[in-house]
Amino acid sequence: MAKGWATYGVDLHVEPSGSGVRKGLTDALREAVRSGRLAPGTRLPSSRSLAADLGIARNTVAGAYGDLVAEGWLTARQGSVTRVADGAVPQSARRRRPVPRPEPGRPAYDLCPGSPDLASFPRTEWLKAARRALASSPYDALGYGDPRGRVELRTALAGYLSRARGVRADPEHIVIASGISHALMLLGTVLSRRGGHPPAVESYGLDTHWKLLSRAGLATVPLPYDELGTRTEELTEGLTSGLTSDLIDDLTGVRAVLLTPAHQFPMGAPLHPDRRAAVVEWARRTGGLVLEDDYDGEFRYDRQPIGALQGLAPDHVVYLGTASKSLAPGLRLGWLVLPPSLTPEVLMAKGGTDWSCGSLDQLTLAEFITSGAYDRHVRSVRLRYRRRRDALVDALREHAPGVRTTGIAAGLHAVLQLPPGTEESVVRAAAEQGLGVHGLARYRHARATVDPLDALVVGYGTPPDHAWVGALDALCRVLR
Ligand SMILES: Cc1ncc(COP(=O)(O)O)c(C=O)c1O
Repeated sequence: MAKGWATYGVDLHVEPSGSGVRKGLTDALREAVRSGRLAPGTRLPSSRSLAADLGIARNTVAGAYGDLVAEGWLTARQGSVTRVADGAVPQSARRRRPVPRPEPGRPAYDLCPGSPDLASFPRTEWLKAARRALASSPYDALGYGDPRGRVELRTALAGYLSRARGVRADPEHIVIASGISHALMLLGTVLSRRGGHPPAVESYGLDTHWKLLSRAGLATVPLPYDELGTRTEELTEGLTSGLTSDLIDDLTGVRAVLLTPAHQFPMGAPLHPDRRAAVVEWARRTGGLVLEDDYDGEFRYDRQPIGALQGLAPDHVVYLGTASKSLAPGLRLGWLVLPPSLTPEVLMAKGGTDWSCGSLDQLTLAEFITSGAYDRHVRSVRLRYRRRRDALVDALREHAPGVRTTGIAAGLHAVLQLPPGTEESVVRAAAEQGLGVHGLARYRHARATVDPLDALVVGYGTPPDHAWVGALDALCRVLR
């Protein structure tokens, strides 16, 4: 018990148990929230006052609060009080499976692809890196910067990408962007200045990327797709597969192709080895450019992640990476590893200085990578996502055995194949249950020749831990 009672703060009944004090306190608080004893929105005492009340170190309380914020049970904003998170669902309520009231415009259960679990963002480690980065940065780091981005981050990325992704990277030819979307805007400007030839894309892909390219005046042309994935050999073999003459004409004029080789988005397979070879051969022979979108290449579960295509032909491939899946999309940090001949044009498109990416976040990410925290974080969340993927596969096998699940070897989403003609109604039924999922149709290029497939694209990485079980239950109810 405390040596002296604090007269400030609010009372909280909590009984840490077990061997470690911090773990005991974390478990006791989590249990209080899980059981519903501490309702969503409840204000907790400051770490100082609870530490005084319990007679333990303030750091111990702050650490327990930090762990529970990271898990999504509590929320804390700078300079404000710590509270029980609004979305923290008590276990008793979970058993009754209510449909929670969604925030306006957001589903109660979010399985839309495109986001990692934001509650798993490594706040404590990120703060440490930010503190170290700011303390050791030169004053000119706060000025207008090199259009390529901070040299500390480019150097850290060159080391990480060559070690972990097989990229051949020189910091001189890395350019920092605010995500792959921004990188594609820059490349769109470059390609339209180079003549505006329509770039090839995949028959299934991210619609927002096609729109970004078309805003730069580049109408995209889909490469054919079959059971082995994107048919890159169509670029080299004279386009023989029963395409319309318009499409053949457009593909003949292609000078650049946007691909997701490590993990096709959204279908989920890696680019077939023969097709990797075919696109590299095409680029070398014609001087074409491959834009390699490596959005989630770190997340592979059945084997070592597939190395980047860029390593095979660094003079012809633009490697595009992002922190959006490995850390959080809100950071808005991505990178281009460029063929040296392309760097000046990309820098011209970016502007004479770095208008778009804040230097403090760049320095923090550099420190985060060089200190080893990035590797530790990726390895830890990779394990958590693999467990979720396994839980998804098991639950579907039990509750929806007719649904075929594909694209599960990597990434943070899976494709669930549905009976023909049912996709729209299933997405609608899900929405009525408060469940957000995407139908595959939105990712099919308007000019794609592949037969439409009815399927759901399920982002199992998206929900925070406390909402995951409810989201999985809701999905199984919809598909049962
Ligand atoms: C295929 C694909 N590429 C790239 C990204 C990341 O884009 P950004 O780095 O702009 O957040 C995503 C995110 O959902 C994606 O699905």
